[in-house]
Amino acid sequence: MGLMLSLAGRLAGRSAVLTRLAGRLVAHELRHLKGKPVERQLLVYELPETQLALANDLRVVDTLLSDRAGTFPKAAALERLLRPLVGGGVFGQPGGDAVKQARRVFLRALARVPEQRVTGVARELTRTYLADWQRRGQPVAIPSELSRLTIDIVSEATLGGRFTAAEGQRFVELFFAYHQRANPVLLLLGGQAPAVQQALVEGMGLAAIGAEMRALIRQRFLLPLLEERPSAEGAPFAAALLEAAAVGLGAECSLAKDEARQTAMLDEIAVMLLAGHETTASVLSWLLWELADAPQEQDAAARVIAAASGGEELQADADIDRQQAAAGADKAVARQLGALTHEALRLYPPIAFLLRETTEAVSFRERPICAGGFVVVSPWTIQRHRALWPEPDRFDPGRWLASEPPAASAERLAMIPFGYGPRVCPGKRFAELEMQAILSELLGSRQLARSRGRAPNPLGTLTSRPDYDFRLQITPRGVG
Ligand code: HEM
Repeated sequence: MGLMLSLAGRLAGRSAVLTRLAGRLVAHELRHLKGKPVERQLLVYELPETQLALANDLRVVDTLLSDRAGTFPKAAALERLLRPLVGGGVFGQPGGDAVKQARRVFLRALARVPEQRVTGVARELTRTYLADWQRRGQPVAIPSELSRLTIDIVSEATLGGRFTAAEGQRFVELFFAYHQRANPVLLLLGGQAPAVQQALVEGMGLAAIGAEMRALIRQRFLLPLLEERPSAEGAPFAAALLEAAAVGLGAECSLAKDEARQTAMLDEIAVMLLAGHETTASVLSWLLWELADAPQEQDAAARVIAAASGGEELQADADIDRQQAAAGADKAVARQLGALTHEALRLYPPIAFLLRETTEAVSFRERPICAGGFVVVSPWTIQRHRALWPEPDRFDPGRWLASEPPAASAERLAMIPFGYGPRVCPGKRFAELEMQAILSELLGSRQLARSRGRAPNPLGTLTSRPDYDFRLQITPRGVG
C-alpha cells in the first residue's frame, strides 16, 4: 500500500488525466483494506510533506474522536473536496464554535421531525417504489434506486417536497460521478500548499458537477421555501432552518433578499440531502446484496414481519393479552431487522474513514506524529478487526441475535458506523427508523435473488458505496 500511495502522490496534480489515474490507484488500494498491515494498532505512512496515521488502537481512537477532539479537527482537505457541493455546510467544517452553532441549529431542526413522520413517509414511499419495480418487471438497479428512494424519504420527511423522477435520477447520477472523482487521499498526497490543493480539486472536475447539483436543490427546495413560508407540520426541518436564518434580520431586510443567508440555508439543505441519503442507501444496498444470497435470512425476517402485521389487525378491539402480544411482535421485528442493519453497518460502514488533522505534534504508542499530520480512524478496519470480531468478514446477522451479545460490543468503540464524540452523526435515529421501515415493507412482501453480474466492490473514495449499479431480482414473496 505504501508503494502505491507514493506512486499516486507523484502523479497527482500533474494534469487532470494523471490526477484521475492517481485517484483510481488510491481507490483500488482502499477497496481491499484487509489483512495484517491495516490491523496494526497504529500504522504510520511517511507522505511527501507530512505523515498519515491509521489508528486501530481504541484508546487512541477515543483520544482522537472524543477526549481531545479539539486538537484533531476534521481535515481541511475534506472541506475543499465538499465545498463545490455543500459550500460552508456543517459536514465539511473542521470544528470550533461555528460548527457547534451549526450543529445546534441542525439538531434542533431535525428534532422537529416526529418519529412517526419518518416511519410513515419511509413506508409509503417504499410501497410506491416496490409497485413501480414490479410494474417494470426487470431486475432492479439497487444502488441508484435506493439512492432515489432515500433522497425522496429525507426530503419529504424534512422539507415537505420531492424531486421529480427525472430530477431525482439526474441528481443520483451526478452524485455518483462526484463520488468517483472526489478522493481525499489524493489531497493528502499532493502537498500542503492551498494553491496546490486547489489545483488538485480543480483537476478532479468537481466544480461543474457540484454547481449542477446545487442548482437542482435551489430550484426544487430553496426557492419554494422562500416563496411560500413552510408550515412546521408540512416541512419541519425547513421551517426550523428558516426561523434560525431569519434571526437578526431587521424588518427592512427580508430573507428573500439576503443572499448570504440564503446561501447558508442552501448549504445546510445540501448537507441534509447528501449526508441524509447516501449513507443509508449505501448500507442498504450492501445489505440487500448479502440478503439476496441468504434466503434463510429473508425468510426469518418475513416470518416475524408477518406475525406482527397479523397482530396489528387485531388491535382495534383487542384485549390486554392480545395487545401485549402485538407489542411483543413489534419488538421481535425491531430485533430481527436491527440484527440485519447492525451487521450491514459493521461490514460496510458507509463512511469508512474519519479523517482528522493534528494541530500540534503528538505521540501515540511512542510514535511521534508531526503537527499538520493526518490521522484516520476507520470504522471499516475496526469493525472487521480479527482481535475484536470472530470471523470478521462473514455476513452473520445471527451474531446480534445470540443470547450472548458479541464480545466486541462490550468495547464502546468497536462499533462506530455513526462516528463518535462531538462530531457523531446527528441523523442516527432518523437513519435507524428509516432503514427499519424500508426493510419491513420490502422483506415482508418481496424476495430477493442475485442476477448475473460480478460482485460489487466498495468505491473507496468519499464513502464505501458499491462501485457499480448492480441489479437484483425482486419478486413478490412466494412467487417464482
Ligand atoms: C446509515 C446511515 C448513516 C450513517 C452510517 C452515518 C454516518 C455518519 C458519520 C460516521 C458521521 C461523522 C463523520 C466524521 O466524524 O467525520 C456522520 C455525520 C453526519 N451525518 Fe450521518 N450517517 C447516516 C445517516 C444520516 C442521516 C439520515 C442524516 C440526516 C438526516 C445524517 C446527517 C449527518 C450530518 C449532518 C453529519 C455531519 C455532522 C457534523 O459535521 O458534525 N446522517 N454521519
